[in-house]
Amino acid sequence: MEALPPGLINLADHEALARTRLDDSAWAYFSGGAADEITLRANRSAWDQLLLLPRVLRPLAGGHTRIELLGRPLSHPLLVAPMAYQRMAHPDGEVATAHAAASQEAGLVLSTQSSVALETVAQVAGAYADRGPLWFQLYLQHDLGFTRELVQRAEAAGYEALVLSVDAPASGARDRERRAGFKLPAGVSAVNLAGLGPPCAGPDAKLFERVSAHGATWADVQWLRSVTRLPIVLKGVLHPQDARQAAALQVAALIVSNHGGRTLDTTPATAAVLPRIAQAVAGDLPLLLDGGIRRGTDVLKAIALGARAVLIGRPCVYGLANAGALGVAHVLRLLRDELEIAMALSGCATLDQVSPELLFDQTADFLQGH
Ligand code: FNR
Ligand code: LAC
Repeated sequence: MEALPPGLINLADHEALARTRLDDSAWAYFSGGAADEITLRANRSAWDQLLLLPRVLRPLAGGHTRIELLGRPLSHPLLVAPMAYQRMAHPDGEVATAHAAASQEAGLVLSTQSSVALETVAQVAGAYADRGPLWFQLYLQHDLGFTRELVQRAEAAGYEALVLSVDAPASGARDRERRAGFKLPAGVSAVNLAGLGPPCAGPDAKLFERVSAHGATWADVQWLRSVTRLPIVLKGVLHPQDARQAAALQVAALIVSNHGGRTLDTTPATAAVLPRIAQAVAGDLPLLLDGGIRRGTDVLKAIALGARAVLIGRPCVYGLANAGALGVAHVLRLLRDELEIAMALSGCATLDQVSPELLFDQTADFLQGH
């Protein structure tokens, strides 16, 4: 078992150490965002700018972080976000991440573009009695027959929900990757997609020809519902009207996400969008969120803004690069501990008690004073 390198006190420490352990190409892929990285930075700074207004003298006895999600109890509201090609960070890749998530009772969302077979990952997670939910992230492929088989494989392996990512019909303008000359190293590939034939639109096709061959539409969400018994979660919704449309289609949950700033640059931070989505769907379905969550206080703020649970992306890959399964487990443990501290110091014994009133309304305050 790998040892945890010394000096890792928080998630920022994990990021700084991972920078020294990953080569420039892998670093550009894992840490980078699209274009000018305005959204990437906005995701983070939005959490820093939101301030907490804690309550005091409230009873905290019996406090806990448990929630309920898709009819299942969870020990805490943290899930590992789907991230492709994790064997580029560590030879054990998604196997290590699965051990870590399961041992920390965190949810795990496996990417379609996982570098370890989805069956292998499910087997690892399945060995832990107290593991969190295991979900499969789906990118619809140009070959719907292949996509259907992929869904059937995920069902057979024991995945409990399908997370359909809808925000990446095309790859973002990845300046940082291009500058670093990013290429997948030998031996790392999207193994779940082995055997998928080439798209009808070849590599020289214009963007919109490729997008129409790959990109999902609302009709495909209905198609997906017709071919699976698993709940469908839409990932990458930012517009309140899309949230309403998803609710009308009775999807099981939404993940408010801008793909960690990796797809369309200059979209707002997810923290800024969440309240509008929460208002639009008015409790019709649970909301999850990801983007820039690096502290327990960020988790608390996301819940105050209307999220039921949050997904953690890059920090998990950094933990993986630093110490394999132990590193990812450490990242999740740090966040859990910080969340408990933040709850206790805000006067919240349970996450049900976390409401928008915990957030300091700076705009209203400023306006009143002027
Ligand atoms: C991602 N993300 C992603 N999302 C998805 O639906 N399928 C995928 O295969 C990937 N792959 C991927 C690779 C890497 C390296 C990163 C960093 C991200 C997006 C991911 O699920 C999540 O939305 C963001 O990473 C959340 O933001 P933070 O926590 O990284 O700031
Ligand atoms: C990414 C793709 C794989 O963000 O979703 O790199």
